[in-house]
Amino acid sequence: MTESDTTRVDLRRRRLLAAGLALPAGAAGLGGAAAIGYAAAPASPVASGLPVRRSIGALAPDSDEVRLYREGLGILRARSERNPADPTGFGQLAVQHALFCSSATPDLQVHWGWDFLTWHRAFLWIYERHLRAALGEPRFALPYWDATRHRRIPAAYWGEGNPLNDSTRLQGPDDELPDDLLNARQALAVDDFHAFGGYPYPNPTGEMVEGNLEQGFHNNVHNWIGGNMASFALAGFEPLFPAHHNNVDRLWAAWVARRGTDALPTDPAWLSRRYQFVNEHAKLESVQVRDLLDPRALGYQFDDFEFGARREPDPVLDESAGGIRVPVEGMVLSGNGRAKVLRFERNAVPVHPYCARVFLRGEGLEATYVGTFTILPVQQGGRAALDAGVTMQLALPDALVERLGTVAGVEAVLAPVPLKGRAIPTALVRPGRVVISDVL
Ligand code: C2O
Repeated sequence: MTESDTTRVDLRRRRLLAAGLALPAGAAGLGGAAAIGYAAAPASPVASGLPVRRSIGALAPDSDEVRLYREGLGILRARSERNPADPTGFGQLAVQHALFCSSATPDLQVHWGWDFLTWHRAFLWIYERHLRAALGEPRFALPYWDATRHRRIPAAYWGEGNPLNDSTRLQGPDDELPDDLLNARQALAVDDFHAFGGYPYPNPTGEMVEGNLEQGFHNNVHNWIGGNMASFALAGFEPLFPAHHNNVDRLWAAWVARRGTDALPTDPAWLSRRYQFVNEHAKLESVQVRDLLDPRALGYQFDDFEFGARREPDPVLDESAGGIRVPVEGMVLSGNGRAKVLRFERNAVPVHPYCARVFLRGEGLEATYVGTFTILPVQQGGRAALDAGVTMQLALPDALVERLGTVAGVEAVLAPVPLKGRAIPTALVRPGRVVISDVL
C-alpha cells in the first residue's frame, strides 16, 4: 500500500471503527471448520459479529460500503499497473482464476464438477483477504450481486474511471437479464448435492458433469454479460466476477442452511482435496475442502438468504432463430424413486459460449419447456481432455415424465437464446447421445 492509500484508508477506517466494528478472535482462521455445524437459519448477522457480505444491488453507489470496495479494487488495480507481475494485484488475481478455470485437464479444471463451489469459495475468501489487507480493513466484506433480485448490472459497476467498471461488457446499465436465465431457485430445490453443485470426476459417465447451479444460473449470467465475463480465461478481469460468484456462494450457503451439513458429501476424496492460492502476503497457501464448508469459519456471513422468483411463464419454443433437434435415444421413466432427468452425454465443448432453452416434444406432445443452460468454452491446452465430452442434465417434472410414457418419437429441441451484441450461435453443440434417465 502506498502512502496516499494509507491516508484515504485511515479516514475510512476511523469511520468504521467508530461504528463499533471489531474482528472477533479467530474469525479469520481456517482451523477446525469442518466440525462446525451450520444452523438451519442464519443467526442474526449482528449477533454473530462476523463481517456481513451484502447485496450491492441494494446499496447506493455512493454508500460507504461501495466506496470502500471501489477504493480497495482501485488499490489492487494500481498495483498491477505499476507491476503486472505483482501477486497482490488485480491482474494476478484474475490469472489465478484463469489457471484453474480454463484448464483442459480435468484434474486442474475446477468447473464441471464438485470442485466448482469449493474452489470458488476459497478463491473469494482469498480475494476478500487481499482487499482487507490492501485497505487495512479487517472488517471488509465482499459485496454480492444477486441477479435474481437485481436483474440489471448494479449501478455501482458503471462509470468512467470507476475501478468496478469493465469496458468489455455487451450489456448496458438498463439491460435486464431474461427471466428464464435466472433459474437459481430451481437449482436450490435440488436435494442431491452432486446434482445441485457438481459431480465427482471420474464418475460413471467417464465425463465431467456440472451441477444444476453451475450449468444454469451461474453460466447463464456469465455469458449474458458478455466480453471478459463470457470467457473463463478472462472472467477474473471483470469486477462483476467476484460479485456474481459471491451470490453463487450464498446460494450454496442457503442450500446448506435448508438441509444441514449432513447433506454435504462425506467422501474423503472430496474433503481432502486441496487448492493452492497466492495469499495477501504474496505467499502460497493451500486450502483443503473440509475447511471450506462453513462460511463462518472463514470469517464472513451473508445478510440474508432470499432470492427472487421467476416472474414470467415458461418460454415457448421459437425456432425462428434456428435450433438443434435430437432424438431421445432411451427413456427410463419409472422405478427406484430417483429423480428423472433429460441427459445430454458426450457433448463436445464448443469454441463459443452457447446458451439454449431446452424443450421436449413428440407425437401428441407439444413442445414443453424443461430448462435453460449455457455451455462456456474452455480455452486452454488444446481442450483435449474436455473434448472427450461433458455431460449436462436437466431435471424433469414428475407430471411430464408420466406423460412421456405415452408419447412416441420424443425429441429434444435446443433453441439458442439470442443475446445482445452476438450472432446467434447455431450448431455449436453436438450432443453425442440424449436420454431420459435417473439422475446420476
Ligand atoms: Cu471459475 Cu464463474 O467461473
